[in-house]
Amino acid sequence: MNLIFLGPPGAGKGTQAQRLITRLRVPQLSTGDILRKAVADGTPLGQQAQALMEAGKLVPDEIVNGIIDEALASKAAAGGFLLDGFPRTVPQAEALDAMLERRGKKIDHVLSLQVPDLDLQQRLSGRQTCPKCQTTYGPQSPPKQKGICDRDGGPLLVRADDQPDRIGQRLKEYWSKTALLTGYYGSRGVVRAIDGLGTVDQVEQRIVAALAG
Ligand code: AP5
Ligand code: MG
Repeated sequence: MNLIFLGPPGAGKGTQAQRLITRLRVPQLSTGDILRKAVADGTPLGQQAQALMEAGKLVPDEIVNGIIDEALASKAAAGGFLLDGFPRTVPQAEALDAMLERRGKKIDHVLSLQVPDLDLQQRLSGRQTCPKCQTTYGPQSPPKQKGICDRDGGPLLVRADDQPDRIGQRLKEYWSKTALLTGYYGSRGVVRAIDGLGTVDQVEQRIVAALAG
């Protein structure tokens, strides 16, 4: 199954993607996670992206298109994939269409997670992230040991773009550029609107039901 997770910052894309990839046995292709790793490793890609990411702005389309083209070519993505955080602009969606067409593939579902801005701001300001494996924690899903990642035992950090002013900038980018994608995919009948409020388990159940229906 080929899926896209669409939704504003803090909607729960990463949280739900972690659950869905186990259920569906497909890889999570997260441009945010790949870019953060490049920043941490100090690669040329990371150096290009760091300032924009920390300011809450989108990195250029050509950069993320290249990342996804490479990820889609991997063996792991041959049997399906879950895109988290890509596409985020209409030109990215057009580029994705071309990449998939070249490979004889198509998107089966676009899962559009819906959460009001006030809840997003609350979630993001209470979030801690593992810089190593990118697992996120919050009051609803705390780590077993305070400040320590359950998965790899490393210390948790607050993402640089989770400061209040950056959160505002990210929401602005989302509403002016990414929200347009609901319309882009709407005419294809693949968009599944998912209420992203409630417990993580409740949201997961809604996603599972939407994929089955
Ligand atoms: P990216 O990493 O994609 O960040 P984002 O879209 O801002 O989304 P987040 O990761 O912040 O939120 P999420 O929806 O994954 O929520 P989460 O599950 O963590 O992108 C970062 C940056 O990289 C961008 O700003 C841009 O600079 C660059 N970038 C990436 N892709 C790009 C692209 N395609 N083009 C250009 N630039 C790109 O949950 C959030 C919090 O809420 C957590 O604490 C979690 O525990 C909690 N939570 C989850 N579910 C619930 C629930 N049901 N109830 C209560 N709390 C919950
Ligand atoms: Mg995420």
